[in-house]
Amino acid sequence: MRRVEDGFLTDHAWANWDVGLRLNTSAPVGTFYHEPLRDAERIVGLAWGTGITPFRSMAREIVAGSLEVRLLLLYGSSDETHMLFYEELKQLEAQSEGRVRVVHVLSCEEVTLEGCEQGFITADMMRKYADPSTDSFFVCGPQVMYDFLQGQLEQLDLPRRRVRWEVYGERKDIALQPGLPSPAAGLSYEMIVRQNGDVYRVPARGSESLLVAMERAGIAAPSQCRSGECGFCRSRLAAGDVYIVPDSDGRREADRVYGFIHPCSSYPLSDVEVQVPPAG
Ligand code: FES
Repeated sequence: MRRVEDGFLTDHAWANWDVGLRLNTSAPVGTFYHEPLRDAERIVGLAWGTGITPFRSMAREIVAGSLEVRLLLLYGSSDETHMLFYEELKQLEAQSEGRVRVVHVLSCEEVTLEGCEQGFITADMMRKYADPSTDSFFVCGPQVMYDFLQGQLEQLDLPRRRVRWEVYGERKDIALQPGLPSPAAGLSYEMIVRQNGDVYRVPARGSESLLVAMERAGIAAPSQCRSGECGFCRSRLAAGDVYIVPDSDGRREADRVYGFIHPCSSYPLSDVEVQVPPAG
């Protein structure tokens, strides 16, 4: 696990976790998988860094015979030392009888490894290896890659249903988000949390989601996707103003009208009060 300066989980993990520690985690959730009624027979996986993990699972299932689909993977890394599962992917490719193909794309200046592309995953590169008229495109990686790929995928003029984006958690550096009132991210507010008959008063940084503010204060708030999509953290905003990231606003229309928010994608613009369901 790479440490992120002033990060939420990684700082804590590096300071407190030892090798051998056992953790309880939730099971995987979401819709980032091949659905034959929805997706094409070939998936083009666009991955960067640890975004390779869902495609590694798909490649394993293809080789095991439990997933009937072909996988073309364009996998970006900054250089050879950052290519994850290189040997394993090579082996899966060899065992797949042509159903899995992996193309490594390295952004460093000099690429010596045979068969690798140099640069970034562009529309031209996708046209070179994939067939935009039939393939489904699955994207998994960091936010910066998504920002870049939005423009590249638009050039392919794909129908929406043939592009799937894995959610990546809360926005990093919300201060850079267009539309956020500029001083908001640097300020800190008070948040009143009502849950199960208890009332908590906790600080809430303008630069972090309300979900993170609750977790920093040790409040067990429900969450799953942490990206505004699943609705698992759905809470009522009883008072105050929040900024909701438009790309991560997965609320139903009725919830918007009746004052419900998803704390994982809501950032305080004032002191706020929320009614939060119990976790679990
Ligand atoms: S955790 Fe999924 S919407 Fe908040």
